Amino acid sequence: MFETLSKATLDKIFVLMAEYAADPRTDKIDLGVGVYKDEKGITPILNSVKKAEQRLLDTASTKTYKGVVGNKEFSAAIVDLALGDTIDRSRIRCVNGAGGTGALMILMHVLGRARPGGRIFICSPTWPNHIPLAENANLEVNYYPYFDAETRGVDFDAMMQVIDGLTSDDIVLLHGCCHNPTGANLTPSQWDSVAESLSRTGAFPLIDLAYLGFGDGLEEDSYGVRRVVAAVPEAMIAFSASKNFGLYRERAGVAIAIAATADSADIVSSQMQNIIRGTISQTPDHGAEVVRIILEDPALRAEWEAELKEMRERMQRLRVKLAAAIRERSNSTDFDFIAEHSGMFSLLGLPEDVVRRLKTEDAVYMINDSRINVAGIPEDRVGELADKLLAALR
Ligand code: LMR
Repeated sequence: MFETLSKATLDKIFVLMAEYAADPRTDKIDLGVGVYKDEKGITPILNSVKKAEQRLLDTASTKTYKGVVGNKEFSAAIVDLALGDTIDRSRIRCVNGAGGTGALMILMHVLGRARPGGRIFICSPTWPNHIPLAENANLEVNYYPYFDAETRGVDFDAMMQVIDGLTSDDIVLLHGCCHNPTGANLTPSQWDSVAESLSRTGAFPLIDLAYLGFGDGLEEDSYGVRRVVAAVPEAMIAFSASKNFGLYRERAGVAIAIAATADSADIVSSQMQNIIRGTISQTPDHGAEVVRIILEDPALRAEWEAELKEMRERMQRLRVKLAAAIRERSNSTDFDFIAEHSGMFSLLGLPEDVVRRLKTEDAVYMINDSRINVAGIPEDRVGELADKLLAALR
């Protein structure tokens, strides 16, 4: 049987994570996989999550199936969080996904059924997993430019040249906030232009919302998604609770579909349910229930929002510190963009051989495209990291 198989390509992010784990050097620095780390270098369980888990443990009386759509109250709370009162709920249908990736998988498969072989336009660069997700759903992957390697900001004119030329048969994947891998994000007025363009061309937006609250704040980070869904009749959103609730391995996410009418929304819902049942049958509920408990309880919610703010502000502080340390040492503003980016990542623009050298010689791990997870910057070793980056570039 297996003789017909060859080795499949594994995702570079998780390959690097395994390499880092296996590296015996005690001074190693992990700027690779996108998980939040605190000042001790630990990915903590949030206090609000621990409390909700305790409540769940104390009160849960069954583990029976929830049903194919999953935890409806969790989905409703996420729709409130992400969309506020932008959209009439009669046009929205949700199912839980196994994390944000699971949500993307379900939504892309629905789109693949709606437009077999249809074109999906994905920003270049993007999160690497977007590509196999789209291909597995029978969508044809196309790209739109996004990043200006010179300024290390968004190349908005180049992006809009492609977006403005899309048709109503096309799908466009947008990062809702905190762009992965670049860290460069659209301004509110650029989101306005994207929304106007989609409303004009009829191209269908699929929004990946994996880092809500990691950029500038919950409200600020939801500007783009709210603006786009308000401007178009149909859209989809893949929400992840992995990062903002620190629930990574629990796989909590929501696939949100917005249709033009309630009847059309029911059809989309049946497709989403059909895909879940035919693949994983039901989604995991532990993380979903934890998030529901937090969002429905004012005290726990306030605690979570404070913890989210702490994570966000720590990442912003680390950005500023690393940019300043590089500036002081190099007498150049070349890396100031790190402080201007937002979210979890920045794309440094280092050649691949420099990235490799940093790993092999200095035990500094980053993705081979030179994406760094800013939460992995050790606050007490920022100067040392700046020295290593600059030395590797020489
Ligand atoms: C990342 O980009 O590093 C994270 O989103 C983890 C993942 O699933 O790739």
